[in-house]
Amino acid sequence: MYTQSFNVPDTDANAGSPLKSVPHDTALQAHFDAVVDADGKIEPRDWMPDAYRKTLVRQISQHAHSEIVGMLPEGNWISRAPSLKRKAILVAKVQDEGGHGLYLYSAAETLGTSRDQMFDALHSGKAKYSSIFNYPTLTWADVGVVGWLVDGAAIMNQIPLCRCSFGPYARAMIRVCKEESFHQRQGFESLMTMMQGTSEQKAMVQDAVNRWWWKCLAMFGPPDADSPNSVQGMRWGIKRISNDDLRQKFVDATVPQAEVLGVTLPDPDLKWNEARGHHDYGQIDWDEFWAVVNGDGPCNKERLATRVKAWNDGAWVRESALAHARKQEARAMKEAA
Ligand code: 3HC
Repeated sequence: MYTQSFNVPDTDANAGSPLKSVPHDTALQAHFDAVVDADGKIEPRDWMPDAYRKTLVRQISQHAHSEIVGMLPEGNWISRAPSLKRKAILVAKVQDEGGHGLYLYSAAETLGTSRDQMFDALHSGKAKYSSIFNYPTLTWADVGVVGWLVDGAAIMNQIPLCRCSFGPYARAMIRVCKEESFHQRQGFESLMTMMQGTSEQKAMVQDAVNRWWWKCLAMFGPPDADSPNSVQGMRWGIKRISNDDLRQKFVDATVPQAEVLGVTLPDPDLKWNEARGHHDYGQIDWDEFWAVVNGDGPCNKERLATRVKAWNDGAWVRESALAHARKQEARAMKEAA
């Protein structure tokens, strides 16, 4: 079941690796703290506390899993896109998400955890991935709303990660954010087109917004007071902005976009608060969020089963690629001899 966090194996799994943890040393710790405090970058070859490494593997691998599981709800619509143009855009977007997963798995591998270990955690249900991808995409309007709201929320969360203290993660996020920005715009543009269409199309967009809005707010993670990882993540410069602050930024940025689009955000408590300089908004259903995170969302089982099937069906491709690489290596050694 999809219930547990991804626990990084203890150091014996890294035994013999050049990346294995170095015994704690005050001078090394002081150097690490100084780099982090000065907003510098920690690189894979640098000494880092075990807990920092573990946190990064947890977050980056969860993020990578979210990217590749996130391909599924939209991938379902490739064969049903309403025009060649929309199909081409959607294919490109879904491919981009696969690419994001690959950059992120590579970034996590630099911390000494293998891709096989990470896939195993995902496929056995031990690893988390974003709650948002456990909801179904029921109509074509959902594809636009996923671009506009889900990718919009993802960018809000991910832009600060471009300044993350761990170099490979920060660098991967720069490219990811550029591509996510295209994803968000294509979603908005697709919805804009529908909102200029028939009353049925407009109703379809409004229905999709109604179903996705609250899930997108929950996507930023639990309230700061209930977020066990935030304080340390921010101390280490991994997280730069808290879950609640990012959620607020997302609400404030999205309200005017909804007005341009002509849709209503489904929250009677949503209103501008002059004193705070922000929008107030209603209560998020955290019971639902935790149920989804703990494996009881509408699509958890389906998403995991699809991933496992894709992995098993692709075994022959991986085996062929390895056999080819072995042949190439043998040929190169023979020529060099
Ligand atoms: N879905 C599932 N689990 C979530 C979650 C969500 N939306 N939000 C939080 N959680 C989990 C955390 O992983 C943590 O569990 P763990 O300790 O077992 O790992 C627990 O809830 C408590 O949350 P915290 O706030 O203490 O955890 P973090 O400090 O790690 O913050 C986070 C959570 C904000 C998601 C942070 O990890 C993060 O910024 N991650 C990187 C970005 C990411 O993973 N985004 C996912 C979406 S990617 C995407 O949408 C793809 C795009 O193409 C659309």
